[in-house]
Amino acid sequence: MNIKKVESLDNFLGTVLIPVFETYKKSIIPIEFNGVSVSSKVFYGSKDSIFISDSKERTYIFIGLGKDIDYKSLKTTFRRIAAKQKELFGLKTCVVIPEQFSNSQIEAVFSGLYLGTYNLGHFKKTELHPFLAKDFVLEYFSQNEVEESAKRGFKIANAQLETFHLVDLPPNKVTPEYLANWAKNSGEKYGFEVTAFDRKKATQTGLHAFLAVGKGSAAEPQFIVMEYKPENAKKHIGLVGKGITFDTGGLNIKTAGMVQMKCDMAGGAAVLGAMQLIADLKLPYQVTAIVPACENSVDAHSFLPSDVIQSYAGHSIEIIDTDAEGRLILADGLAYLIKNYKPEIVVDLATLTGSAVGTFGYECAALFTNNDALSQRLQQAGTEIGELLWQLPLWDCYKSDIESEIADVKNYSGKPVAGAISAAKFLEFFTDSHPSWAHLDIAGVAFGDDEFAKTKHATAYGVHLITNFIQHI
Ligand code: BES
Ligand code: ZN
Ligand code: ZN
Repeated sequence: MNIKKVESLDNFLGTVLIPVFETYKKSIIPIEFNGVSVSSKVFYGSKDSIFISDSKERTYIFIGLGKDIDYKSLKTTFRRIAAKQKELFGLKTCVVIPEQFSNSQIEAVFSGLYLGTYNLGHFKKTELHPFLAKDFVLEYFSQNEVEESAKRGFKIANAQLETFHLVDLPPNKVTPEYLANWAKNSGEKYGFEVTAFDRKKATQTGLHAFLAVGKGSAAEPQFIVMEYKPENAKKHIGLVGKGITFDTGGLNIKTAGMVQMKCDMAGGAAVLGAMQLIADLKLPYQVTAIVPACENSVDAHSFLPSDVIQSYAGHSIEIIDTDAEGRLILADGLAYLIKNYKPEIVVDLATLTGSAVGTFGYECAALFTNNDALSQRLQQAGTEIGELLWQLPLWDCYKSDIESEIADVKNYSGKPVAGAISAAKFLEFFTDSHPSWAHLDIAGVAFGDDEFAKTKHATAYGVHLITNFIQHI
């Protein structure tokens, strides 16, 4: 989407978006804009309210913000306008930027407007959103410098839209190879290197735990490695994202909720989206990211409960439950990343456990780390933009949950308690005691219900969080 500044609205014909901070209900002073006067009886800027006024030349949409508004609410407000008022956007739309808006508020407005173009009907004959028309130019009216923040907002939304697509498209389209190709294309466009190991290369490399999960699937697994190396990089960050393109549970087949399991690559999709955004924003940090991608399926070749498998780290693993597959592919992803790239900070994102959903519902991700400073910085990065996370313990008293009689470790305690914690303890076992590792269990926040569709869909949780975190290290 292109943008253009307008100096005056006098000759503007089209739709004008006017954000308004709340005055008060019984105000005798009406809200005035460009000769249009709105009585407080019908609109006084309260949060989530809008007022539409039409004249021959212009349609004015007054948008209530409340007394003050956080980043996420502001972004959602503008996403709502773009998504739900699209019949009002003819050829021209102009957004008015209030003088008191900060750079991050300007970013949220443009980001939200772009995100509002998303349409879940990927396989339906639907009309293109007016903002996506080739010659569309979003105009703005502002006393302040807006362009840089607006463009940043678009880049964020662009990466989040890509992640929406990857998660919401069905698993017969988004296969491991689809993810690898997406990464290669994005790498070429935005400037990072991508290699993907197929089954043969992964076998030669010794990614045994990763390969065990993909054994029962006809889809070729792909172990995707991405490297972004800008000049004068300040620090080296490693990312790992769970890329299970569909989780049937394997032979421990799921008896509930399987239809939603196309979202089981949302951690991987967040890492892919973040990688695009980091490169697009040209952040001065080296980032190495790994997305082990495969399908957990049911077949004669599937791995079995009670199998003992090997792993890249050299630790043997007893399989108690084939539905605890995410931690197996992450174990190889983490061990491969840490051994070969030695990043200073490592963060993994995964739709790992139902337990994380049971603990925090759909509002907050579960955070695990032994590093307090890292915990604080991640939480702050999330709070700023409305992607919440809260820490759970990694105490060693939970270690017995993953101790096996026959192997070095087992993939499930067999008990229906503390599931997110024991999964995190399992991952920790494969991090070689990395001093700055964090795990984000995003099972509750990656895919959810909201006002924008009738079915659960992607949230792109993590894309902006990780980028914001890296930017403020
Ligand atoms: N992919 C699931 C976790 C999940 C649950 C993701 C809900 C998104 C929404 C994971 O692979 C899984 O099946 N976890 C099991 C582990 C158990 C068998 C040890 C769980 O949490 O029930
Ligand atoms: Zn599973
Ligand atoms: Zn899973």
